Amino acid sequence: MQKKWWHNAIGYQIYPKSFQDTNGDGIGDIPGIIEHLDDLEELGINMIWLCPVNRSPMADHGYDISDYDEIDPMFGTLDDMKRLIKEADKRGIRVLMDLVVNHTSSEHEWFQKALEDPDGRYGKYYIIREGKDGKEPNNWRSIFGGSAWERIGDTDKYYLHLFTKWQPDLNWENREVREEIYAMINRWLDMGLGGFRIDAISHLKKDFTYENLPADGVDGYVNGFPYFRNVKGIETFLNELKKETFLPHDAFTLAEADDVAPEDLEDFIGEDGYFSSIFDFCHTRYHVNDPKWKDRPVEMINDLRDALFQKQEYVNGRGFLCNFLDNHDTSRSAERFIPREDIGYHSMSALGSVNFFFPGIVFLYQGQAAGMLDYRKKSIDEFRDPTTFNMYRGYLQEGMTEEQALEKLNVESREHARTPMQWNAQENAGFTDGTPWFAVNPNYKTVNLEAEKGKEESLYHWYRKMIALRKSDEYSELFIYGSLTPVYEKTDGVIAYEREYQGRCVLIICNLKAALQELPFGWKVKKILLSNHKDVNIKKEKIYLRGYEVVIVETEK
Ligand code: GLC
Ligand code: CA
Repeated sequence: MQKKWWHNAIGYQIYPKSFQDTNGDGIGDIPGIIEHLDDLEELGINMIWLCPVNRSPMADHGYDISDYDEIDPMFGTLDDMKRLIKEADKRGIRVLMDLVVNHTSSEHEWFQKALEDPDGRYGKYYIIREGKDGKEPNNWRSIFGGSAWERIGDTDKYYLHLFTKWQPDLNWENREVREEIYAMINRWLDMGLGGFRIDAISHLKKDFTYENLPADGVDGYVNGFPYFRNVKGIETFLNELKKETFLPHDAFTLAEADDVAPEDLEDFIGEDGYFSSIFDFCHTRYHVNDPKWKDRPVEMINDLRDALFQKQEYVNGRGFLCNFLDNHDTSRSAERFIPREDIGYHSMSALGSVNFFFPGIVFLYQGQAAGMLDYRKKSIDEFRDPTTFNMYRGYLQEGMTEEQALEKLNVESREHARTPMQWNAQENAGFTDGTPWFAVNPNYKTVNLEAEKGKEESLYHWYRKMIALRKSDEYSELFIYGSLTPVYEKTDGVIAYEREYQGRCVLIICNLKAALQELPFGWKVKKILLSNHKDVNIKKEKIYLRGYEVVIVETEK
């Protein structure tokens, strides 16, 4: 495999609104990110991805861009962005921006012009169709709930929005749109960006048979994924996008492309794939409080293990998946995988190790190494995301009581990831001197980065050590290019695997059960590399793993 500059990337996702405020308006900003570059360097990070910071009315917290070439004043200026790229560079950190090109904001100039003249030049930038019998062109449901169509004023025309109605979908069939987008991407790459995380990219192509389908919900709409996700023909757009922009800049691209069929993985992330990497989302569908898994946490872990290994098997050395646990669209992973009573240093470090040493790109999310958790809301009014409100309405429509709907959101809401970063035990967790735009989790007095740094045994130090090991001269090639072989695949609650490269072998064993496990151990240990306890118990061909223990050793080959 041809070596690339980003193969050794250790990524860190920043949700700028909630990272660090520097001017007291209660909203995180780019100068706040610059302030913490030293912290990120100390952790070992060499790539950061910023959720959108372009000009936006913030209907979807920045995933609705009204000017691709501007930075939203809420976050700072273009000069701040340039300074961030430069300062990051000095520390060996490459910056990725979020590229949101499936849709724009409804306040984007193009869309405003499209509204004025739906049949004119800019009308063709979007997907506008005549209604049918006084109703929407078809009954597709938006991914965020409700119809995927919005009527234009009192005309009989509708525009398509797969997400909120403030995010009209761009018409990628129109060459002029594609050219505008490519030119914009190149302007950013010329500024020195390392690349992009690419939003909602599997939706670029739509199947234009706008027939009504049988409704699948009480709202009368239908989930139209087969008609607007990974639709045949999308490859033409993706190839062109790469050729016109990323390839000539040798950029790193991390695409949000879910449910790529195993036979298509090579096209997506193979040596000549459309992207450098795509997220492995398979673990985001689990939750210990999901009725499906309630009181069966160990079976859930077994299921997770099979799903993770299956994904790795599909890829099988042909490319790099992005192995993450947390992001801005999920509740905190500790809450999803660990029963509440077990949450703590050992369980969280064990969870953090599960896919950390997989082949692929590691991405951490802000607050993950500080042990941040979900902040449960007492009322629906405490949430901030239109999507949450859409879901809430949907649940009530399905017949849930207000309490039940709130409880469900408290379990699954993506907003849990978006509470302000907990830096220290000072007011507002050190996030802002003003009033935070979104309430800080009151557990910040004990759960914060400074406290983690101060403890000898802490999640922060665990992540730092894991990163150092992954990046070390001795082992980095093994972790990047080595083979992966699952072991103990039938042992309850254990996720374990070997990585092997050029005659060297590292074994990673994570016990995700609260109870001690005694397992046969046939390897000869060459060196103990890491453990989340003070000692490792391997005796007489047996290993004794305490609850939530992780052991990483080099074995004789
Ligand atoms: C992606 C983003 C999500 C956003 C959506 C629409 O899924 O991760 O936060 O709401 O796209 O742009
Ligand atoms: Ca600010």
